[in-house]
Amino acid sequence: MDLFPDGFLWGAATAAHQVEGNNVNSDLWVLEHTEPTLFAEPSLDACDHYHRFPEDIKLLAGLGLNTYRFSIEWARIEPERGHFSRTALEHYRRMLAACHENGVSPMVTFYHFSSPRWFAALGGWEKPAASDLFLRYCDRAARHLGDLIAFATTFNEPNLPMLLRWLPVSEIPFITVKRMVKAAQRALGTGRFGCFFLGDAVKLRDRMTATHERAVEALKSGPGSYPAGVSIALQDEQAVGADSRRDRKRAEVYDPWFDAAGRGDFLGVQTYTRCRVGKKSDLGPEPGVELTQMGYEFWPEALEACLRYAHARVAVPIYVTENGISTEDDTRRIEYIRRALAGLRNCLAEGIDVRGYIHWSLLDNFEWILGYRPKFGLIGVDRATQQRTIKPSARYLGEIARRKQILDPAAIG
Ligand code: BGC
Repeated sequence: MDLFPDGFLWGAATAAHQVEGNNVNSDLWVLEHTEPTLFAEPSLDACDHYHRFPEDIKLLAGLGLNTYRFSIEWARIEPERGHFSRTALEHYRRMLAACHENGVSPMVTFYHFSSPRWFAALGGWEKPAASDLFLRYCDRAARHLGDLIAFATTFNEPNLPMLLRWLPVSEIPFITVKRMVKAAQRALGTGRFGCFFLGDAVKLRDRMTATHERAVEALKSGPGSYPAGVSIALQDEQAVGADSRRDRKRAEVYDPWFDAAGRGDFLGVQTYTRCRVGKKSDLGPEPGVELTQMGYEFWPEALEACLRYAHARVAVPIYVTENGISTEDDTRRIEYIRRALAGLRNCLAEGIDVRGYIHWSLLDNFEWILGYRPKFGLIGVDRATQQRTIKPSARYLGEIARRKQILDPAAIG
């Protein structure tokens, strides 16, 4: 029988800004409220995970999952430059403790896209001071929380700005971005507003790769001992035409991060779809292929391709730290999980060192500029009542985790 190995991580993920609610001190909260804004709607109460984490972690454990990947919020932990909130750190200690009480290993992301307002007002990641500021925050948080952490990552998808550069130019709303940033500067009373999503991608890449290695040390500076790595965004890039710039794209977007990941303990692979690359940029979906709510091709096989690609490039162990689909049709999520895991299984059979599968997302949540419309959750959230509803896909993944093998969805009922 092809069983998944003992000790394999089975989990689900969230990120603070997308689920906690009222992350008012963050740069993104500012951008959500500018006029004009790129955001379809503001995050507001989100899933109130800040208060409901005990219930949510219990639900995750009850499904049969053994790992919860979540981020701690810099904007809460250091609301003013140099002031570290003991109350916020204690909150995250309680979250970590709740994981352990439920037999769940916590994988903690120290940076998942959002920054404190004051950091944005200094110019964000583009400025040389960013590294030391981030390292100080990592050090303080790790010292406070380290004894309860099982795995840690420095950055979530730090290569995303480079990846976005490959979008066809026609898809980028330059004018709105410019006006939104100006409005954010006015709101903060500064001449700068450096946000992760909007910064100069090359500067960000250089700053963040250089910071990663030192951040791994900072993450390990506290009590406890755990592996620390980085999670990057990958697509299954497919070259279209003899003059495709696919390899150039890969070199630009991934190579620096594969190098950086080699200086940590593991690489987190995050993937959702394939991407066809032409002679100038990405080409968009192939006509006729099923699309998800994000407009991505329904392409669960991307996981196997990305794992093989990453394995060829790094020597450290790999964890799938995000993989999933946005859909209102949960039967498509089940099919996606089944096929993605079949690909992962092929990789394991060939000896590729993949140690876990963490699904995005535990909850339907705030999908950045798209607001709440895309549904990535294994668990639905009624935003008026905050009631949680377990979807069949959650039970399916949980059952696979319990039995350590891919199951026929029909057999789950
Ligand atoms: C991010 C998540 C996001 C997900 C789905 C990843 O890029 O890490 O925050 O919600 O993809 O788009």
